[in-house]
Amino acid sequence: MIRGKNINLRPFTRQDLEFFQKVANDLDYNGEFNDFGLRNSVELETGFAVEGFLGARQGMLVIVNQEGEILGDMSYHQAAYGPNPGSQVYEIGLSIRPDQRGKGYGVEAQALLAGYFFRTYNVMRVQASTDIENIPEQRALEKAGFTREGVMRKAQWRNGVFHDLVLYSKLRGE
Ligand SMILES: CC(C)(COP(=O)(O)OP(=O)(O)OC[C@H]1O[C@@H](n2cnc3c(N)ncnc32)[C@H](O)[C@@H]1OP(=O)(O)O)[C@@H](O)C(=O)NCCC(=O)NCCS
Repeated sequence: MIRGKNINLRPFTRQDLEFFQKVANDLDYNGEFNDFGLRNSVELETGFAVEGFLGARQGMLVIVNQEGEILGDMSYHQAAYGPNPGSQVYEIGLSIRPDQRGKGYGVEAQALLAGYFFRTYNVMRVQASTDIENIPEQRALEKAGFTREGVMRKAQWRNGVFHDLVLYSKLRGE
């Protein structure tokens, strides 16, 4: 468990599959900025069966409050800017349940996961990108100590249109 003040991040369990399968195609839960088309019902089971969503290359964590109630989920994957281990970074993303947004959980979750990567892996950089219109996520990243680096023009195809993304990063020690 990655322990925070108001929330904790914990690995997926088999019991979580039901909740996350239920919200997999729920636009309210995922939000318009995570609307990449329908998700099949075996994707989660298959991912869980491989390494419980807790691989070094990619994974997901459950965001819970101190009572253990599910607040949302965080995902991560490695990205590489060269062939050597030193050029690897982690990229993170998240969804907070619609009824739990605006309470500071998104800020805390992203700060917690970045801290975990810096403690656990020898990486210099954790990054996140979000739609240029996703103001809540941009605010959350800035409050979590991430720095806005620039705009990736028309980087994402979603819902019939190419979207500009904003790239943020947090470096070890920041
Ligand atoms: C983006 C998201 C993760 C932010 O998490 P959150 O827990 O709601 O955000 P926090 O409470 O930590 O607040 C972060 C900032 O966003 C602001 N914010 C939250 N919801 C907002 C909204 N609907 N409109 C405008 N600002 C909003 C907060 O007020 C806060 O800024 P402030 O301190 O200046 O007021 C969450 O809204 C969410 O899950 N959205 C849907 C999925 C998504 O877009 N994920 C990111 C995709 S890359």
